[in-house]
Amino acid sequence: MSNGFLSIEALAKRFPAQNGEGEPLTVFENVNFRIERGEFVCIVGHSGCGKSTIMNVLAGLDEATEGVVIMNGKEVKGPSLDRGVVFQNYSLLPWLSALRNVTFAVEARNRAWTKEQVRAHSYKYLELVGLTGGAEHRKPAQLSGGMRQRVSIARAFAIQPELLLLDEPFGALDALTRGTIQDELLKIWQGTDQTVFMITHDVDEAIYLADRVLLMTNGPYARVAESVEVGIPRPRARDEIVEHPNYYKVRNHLVHFLARRSKEMAGREHATPTGRPETVSFDDPEKERPAPPQAALYAITR
Ligand SMILES: Nc1ncnc2c1ncn2[C@@H]1O[C@H](COP(=O)(O)OP(=O)(O)OP(=O)(O)O)[C@@H](O)[C@H]1O
Ligand SMILES: [Mg+2]
Repeated sequence: MSNGFLSIEALAKRFPAQNGEGEPLTVFENVNFRIERGEFVCIVGHSGCGKSTIMNVLAGLDEATEGVVIMNGKEVKGPSLDRGVVFQNYSLLPWLSALRNVTFAVEARNRAWTKEQVRAHSYKYLELVGLTGGAEHRKPAQLSGGMRQRVSIARAFAIQPELLLLDEPFGALDALTRGTIQDELLKIWQGTDQTVFMITHDVDEAIYLADRVLLMTNGPYARVAESVEVGIPRPRARDEIVEHPNYYKVRNHLVHFLARRSKEMAGREHATPTGRPETVSFDDPEKERPAPPQAALYAITR
């Protein structure tokens, strides 16, 4: 693999003991992975392993205790409009309407645009997430959780960042809206050379959307243990994807990891010296490692 568009090197996050009580906490350490320009990468792992923290470090909004993030050959230090973020808690400006939350970001990104250009562009993305017809004039407190999440998605998409960082962006949406916006995201991504890094708890969503799925072990001392190549050609049709020979192999592997191996592989003693995730690919029969059949029966719980 080349040096990559985005390189995460030896990242660790540690918290000191609170007021001298309890133990210091190492959430994750020696996290290493790379993302190529134009890739769509999902990351899965149990609650608390540090996914949002990694994303906030990539966004430049949090600092790692150790390690660096390099994007386009430069170290990430502080936020930038080259990176658009959909946060787990939406993070809208509460005093602005949905529309203004979007236009505010679009203006900042495109300083030379006229007011009309900014408005038309913002409307395009609000329309895409189904938030026009009056709802766009409401403030966040007057919107449902799912609507707030959609404003946040429209805002991140509208600034057309080089890197789109999505923290469980569809968690608050009903199945139908979720499917529609997933497809819109794929359309937007496929038409550009944007790179997407997305956190999800939904393995089917990860397989439908991603080129690769990174698997994180449980914390403390969490790490990215594997990089699973989905290997299903695009465009992918939602109702046909399950028929691809890779689908259940990848699905079983992810489910089995979440149900068993994320815990079994947890802890500092299981770390590899390089810290690089092992690549898992199902295209090559030599590397094929089917999970036990009962794996598909495990429920994934948060
Ligand atoms: N200020 C803090 N002091 C101590 N521990 C903290 C602090 N902030 C976060 N943590 C811990 O860091 C860990 C990682 O949190 P993070 O939000 O990144 O997890 P996550 O993988 O995104 O979880 P989820 O799937 O629930 O969103 C958690 O165990 C949390 O308790
Ligand atoms: Mg999180």
